[in-house]
Amino acid sequence: MDSGKLSLRRTRLNPLFRKLTAEVDLNVDHFMQPLFCVEGLKTKEEIPGLTGVFRETSDSILRQIESDLENGVKSFLLFGVPAKKSAQNFSYASTANMISSIKQRFGTDLFLAVDVCLCSYTDHGHCGVLSTEGDHVDNGRSVAELAKAALEYAKAGADCVAPSDMMDGRIAAIRQALDTGGQEQKLLMSYSAKFHSKFYGPFRVAANSAPNKDNALKDRATYQIDPARPSDALLASERDAREGADLLMVKPGLPYLDVLAMLSAKIKLPWAVYEVSGEYAAIEELAKAGLVNGPAAHVESWISLRRAGASILISYGARHAQKWIKELR
Ligand code: PBG
Repeated sequence: MDSGKLSLRRTRLNPLFRKLTAEVDLNVDHFMQPLFCVEGLKTKEEIPGLTGVFRETSDSILRQIESDLENGVKSFLLFGVPAKKSAQNFSYASTANMISSIKQRFGTDLFLAVDVCLCSYTDHGHCGVLSTEGDHVDNGRSVAELAKAALEYAKAGADCVAPSDMMDGRIAAIRQALDTGGQEQKLLMSYSAKFHSKFYGPFRVAANSAPNKDNALKDRATYQIDPARPSDALLASERDAREGADLLMVKPGLPYLDVLAMLSAKIKLPWAVYEVSGEYAAIEELAKAGLVNGPAAHVESWISLRRAGASILISYGARHAQKWIKELR
């Protein structure tokens, strides 16, 4: 082609032609809305930084879902936050009860994925059970607990269980627990490429799940992926695919677009991306300061995540997606 004749201005002149030639499509069918349900909470509380997202009570969550359905959102990712924390002998009943009441009310009108992790359940805030000496997160004991939780959530009616803990071997253990527990039709979404990120701040307030110990246990660096190790994201995702994950995830989103593009090109399972709390809140804060148009910046971020290869967008703004996309695209 004679590059002297290429006009990229001519092809951008007509807004309808711009739409006609879009290579990436964005619509509410691809979105999943995170929900927080807090056991024993009396009135719902807005989460700092996450405008329009709440720590919900067992009643308010049903009203919220009703309104989300009216706004076109049909998929949800539930985080159960229990009232009591402990070091072991966790009860998953509060989350399981929430799952069954959501499913009883809405049935197949919605797709319900449930996050499986221990960080809201443990008194130290780690995603697994500690060793007897209390000096590290014990992989084997953590995996056994996670498989138990996942089976209980699936039996309560979850359509999909989504382990976010980052222990080794949890996908195989959960798949086996589901298959032998009569839950073989339930989907398993692995947070396979979850990085050790500082962008989880607002979430940890919402889920009351920040680690609170010293030394080697001060953060999640021993189980989440180092930001400088994209190869670990590939190794973990390939492994989780082999162990039986039905879909995989990259988390966070925008700072890891390169990882999402690399992984989705290499592994042909469906990919989800999690636009995490800190990413979402950053745009909200810019908007509050009058420095960006919030909805437009959200829509642009979502297009980038789709462009990089995600089928599913997990976003705190899912409930606005239909309206914002209609107005802005
Ligand atoms: C728990 C979990 C985290 C998120 C989802 N599940 C945070 C963490 O690792 O502390 C983060 C989601 C967000 O920031 O929106 N393991």
